[in-house]
Amino acid sequence: MPIEPDTKDWTWTLERACPECGFDAPALDLARVPDALRDNATLWEVVLGTDDAAVRPSPHVWSPLEYACHVRDVNRVFAGRVRQMLEDDGPTFANWDQDETAETDDYGSQDPATVAAEVVAAAEEVAQVYEGVGGDQWQRRGTRSNGDVFTVDTLARYHLHDVVHHAHDVSHVTKRVTVASYDAWAQEYAAGTAEMPGSVRDAVASFAARLPAGARVLEVGSAAGRDAEALEQAGLSVRRTDITPAFVAMLRAAGHDDAAVVDPLTDDLTDPTRDAPYDGVWASASLLHVRREDLPDVLVRLAGAVRPGGVLRLAVKEGDGARFSTHGHVGAPRHFTFWREDGLRAVLEEAGWEVAEVEHASGERDDWLDVTALRREDRGR
Ligand SMILES: C[S@@+](CC[C@H](N)C(=O)[O-])C[C@H]1O[C@@H](n2cnc3c(N)ncnc32)[C@H](O)[C@@H]1O
Repeated sequence: MPIEPDTKDWTWTLERACPECGFDAPALDLARVPDALRDNATLWEVVLGTDDAAVRPSPHVWSPLEYACHVRDVNRVFAGRVRQMLEDDGPTFANWDQDETAETDDYGSQDPATVAAEVVAAAEEVAQVYEGVGGDQWQRRGTRSNGDVFTVDTLARYHLHDVVHHAHDVSHVTKRVTVASYDAWAQEYAAGTAEMPGSVRDAVASFAARLPAGARVLEVGSAAGRDAEALEQAGLSVRRTDITPAFVAMLRAAGHDDAAVVDPLTDDLTDPTRDAPYDGVWASASLLHVRREDLPDVLVRLAGAVRPGGVLRLAVKEGDGARFSTHGHVGAPRHFTFWREDGLRAVLEEAGWEVAEVEHASGERDDWLDVTALRREDRGR
């Protein structure tokens, strides 16, 4: 079934942040463009590996496979356009009808594995083209067949928004893939992280010091329960939860019958064991898997489950953008959203949390933001 052609003029995205995908083209640091394109390709590679990559969510919406073909071709077309702008003076680009291409090239019947390799190669190629742009070259011009004039600078911003927006279009897949990866690698993850790093031990101690003995804490992302044990040894009472069923099965097998599969974005967070809000939330290296656009809702929901003055501790990776990555004790792809201090503070404060402390820590492969926040009396939105 043909898709309604996209006749929208998207050039407004150069002037303000996109309300749908959150991409802020005017604020973009152009030096980030090459790696942001490579990161984007990691997502398509993973999405194309899912069983239902070729299935349209509804008859008029492209399947992840069709989006991936489009992103591959966008990367190829934009590589050509940037080269033209660098080599010729004020070229006019040949018209590229994306909807016609999708039909004539029959995107929906292409082989997902082949497309995965092509999308990565196309991203790498165009990333290298942008890496070769320097100084005044960012201001070289080119004109689209409809008369819109771009510079290399505005074309790069427009281009990156396009592929980031399409990643957003298929982002329902990211949680499913991440949880499936933990589910398949739960034993290895548990074995590989059994020993608590000194930094986490210190964080447990300072979290516990902010709460009275016996305080009730909701843990988001307990995994095999290493941190919960330490929190309990520090005098707290912990409700163990995880979005990954295999971790919850391990916790139950270890005698924690009340451990529960909980998605903090959608599931009821109230404490089944008592009729009172929690005194705190421990979310160490778990909310880093929540999509950027979902974290505000998760933080509002956590604020709703905690008493005023209650303590939240969360650790996320510091950086820009989001990417799939396979590393550490989980040999399958997981989706990570990176945060900067300012953005994270804003989201926390909007959600009803007062930020008490932000620590920047260097890890083996990534930097971390370790945040302690207190539930405000008034709860934000
Ligand atoms: C890197 S592990 C951290 C586990 C444990 N807190 C630790 O520090 O070792 C990430 C945890 O987040 C959970 N998780 C994955 N996706 C999530 C999501 N969308 N929301 C909340 N937790 C998620 C995983 O099941 C896993 O337990």
